[in-house]
Amino acid sequence: MPTITADGRSIEVDAGTRLVLAIEALGIDIGHRCGGKARCTTCRVAVEAGAPATYTRAEFLKLQGAGLLAPEGAAEPVRLSCQVLVEGDMTMRVLKTKQTEGWPDTGPEVGADLVPEVERFDRATLEAEVAAG
Ligand code: FES
Repeated sequence: MPTITADGRSIEVDAGTRLVLAIEALGIDIGHRCGGKARCTTCRVAVEAGAPATYTRAEFLKLQGAGLLAPEGAAEPVRLSCQVLVEGDMTMRVLKTKQTEGWPDTGPEVGADLVPEVERFDRATLEAEVAAG
């Protein structure tokens, strides 16, 4: 089983687990203010190791639109944890929590399945889509 390490805490989870849920299982109050729909970016993490090579279209477009899309090969790419399915070991820093942001709660409950879409693409495919308009 893959090991997820966030802010120095580690847990083993099943492959295919939504990353935001793995982080919550660590007892970290990570934000998910849109309920895991790739709209708010409050579930963002800086991935120190093990960043997956694929993105949902929604994650890619949201990161790009928000100016959060790291250059290819960046040391700690920002990813939206609600849009990442755990494939292997990952290590990260959580960037927004209930405590750091002063929210009354972390946000609406996030389900087990990726939304708004489950399909994932490599970066070159999505960059080509954007370039083509
Ligand atoms: S973008 Fe809102 S929870 Fe992930």
